[in-house]
Amino acid sequence: MMPRSLPKKLRDALGQQGALPRAHAAAGLLEVRGARAVTVPGGTRSGAALHSTDLEAGATRPAGWRAGPEGHRAEAPLPVLFRLRESGGRSARSTGALAGSGASAAGGPVRHVPVLVRSVVDVLGVRADGVYVDGTFGAGGYSRAILETPGARVVAIDRDRSAVALGADLVAASGGRLTLFEERFSSLDDVAARAGFPSVQGVVLDLGVSSMQLDTAERGFSFRLDGPLDMRMGGDGPSAAEVVAAASERDLAAIISTLGEERFARPIARSIVRARASAPIATTQALADIITRVVHPRPGVIHPATRTFQALRIFVNEELWELAAALSAAERILAPGGRLAVVSFHSLEDRIVKSFLTDRGRTSGVSRHRPDVEQPAPTFRILTKRPLLPSDAESEANPRARSAKLRAAERTDAPARPGDAPALPRLPPLADVLKGR
Ligand SMILES: C[S@@+](CC[C@H](N)C(=O)[O-])C[C@H]1O[C@@H](n2cnc3c(N)ncnc32)[C@H](O)[C@@H]1O
Repeated sequence: MMPRSLPKKLRDALGQQGALPRAHAAAGLLEVRGARAVTVPGGTRSGAALHSTDLEAGATRPAGWRAGPEGHRAEAPLPVLFRLRESGGRSARSTGALAGSGASAAGGPVRHVPVLVRSVVDVLGVRADGVYVDGTFGAGGYSRAILETPGARVVAIDRDRSAVALGADLVAASGGRLTLFEERFSSLDDVAARAGFPSVQGVVLDLGVSSMQLDTAERGFSFRLDGPLDMRMGGDGPSAAEVVAAASERDLAAIISTLGEERFARPIARSIVRARASAPIATTQALADIITRVVHPRPGVIHPATRTFQALRIFVNEELWELAAALSAAERILAPGGRLAVVSFHSLEDRIVKSFLTDRGRTSGVSRHRPDVEQPAPTFRILTKRPLLPSDAESEANPRARSAKLRAAERTDAPARPGDAPALPRLPPLADVLKGR
């Protein structure tokens, strides 16, 4: 139940999971250019105010990689607060994994419904005097849930300009408790510091793409909707079409094999290179057709284009590097006792989170393998020995929730370990791939 003590405006916004039409109207009033924050300062104004900022991703790139998990189910059915209320809207949920979505093929983007939201709020242990970074604002499901605790503040981030614009209503209704930035979560510590919070009580990441991104044909994420082969979450950087046009056959195969875990990566890469010699591969449909000529669709098996689309999306958005940098940033900004919660949707992401937390949670002392090296003190205490999974009810109501895994940990008072970022799969950098090598 939503607390009656909340101001009506905030109660309305919290209950308004399907607020897109109003938010679109609000977005018409907003100019969103470059990195900027949407906030209502001091809680004294009722309208949204925009503040331009010059936030730059400041972290450095890690390199290298490893392992994989199992988990147990632990989420109560979604509370009423998070069900869609407005008529005419169709619901969909988080997905970080599948590029194909059938949910809205008949007509426009669906609204995003958060996955594992109650478990996330529980593991964060949201407090009235706490400040929380929501690194993946999306449709604001997690931010809304955190703001349900009166007094709690949220610094929210999304690299997608349209997500930030659509969040304006919630910002306006938050009484100054929500600040929203168009930024990358790799610099979440800088963003929070510039919002006035050099340390915070919680950081949450809900990885992957939102339903709105996946189900908007023009964004080019889905092989089920024909659109330009784009796949960029933010407005910057090269598109998937540019990567597909320029990458060598060897690089394409490495990307598809590593980031899509696709066993037919080599024949798919060969077929892409052959096809682009006669015409540019500019649309999602064109790429899906090329793939299905090599790997035939079979009933009961995921669509043959799924893994290649996932791989290109992860590569174009540098998603694994973003994640590794965000984990280190969370380590730097979390106060002792602060909590980190990460919801991932495929094994590549989950491996990075798991190996980071295992490494940071290892108790100090002398390593059996390197007796000459003193282990640094653990910076995190792991709260989820095995990842939390959605309940059967949530997975049944929302097939997209099925692959979700939540891992959480509590920050200790040991100093952060600068320059010691999680290892990543070895792949050529985006800039080199574009040169065709
Ligand atoms: C799965 S959705 C989050 C949904 C959100 N929890 C909700 O309840 O509405 C992921 C969002 O994170 C954003 N995102 C993904 N990677 C990002 C990054 N590196 N920096 C900032 N935002 C990112 C995407 O643009 C997308 O809007």
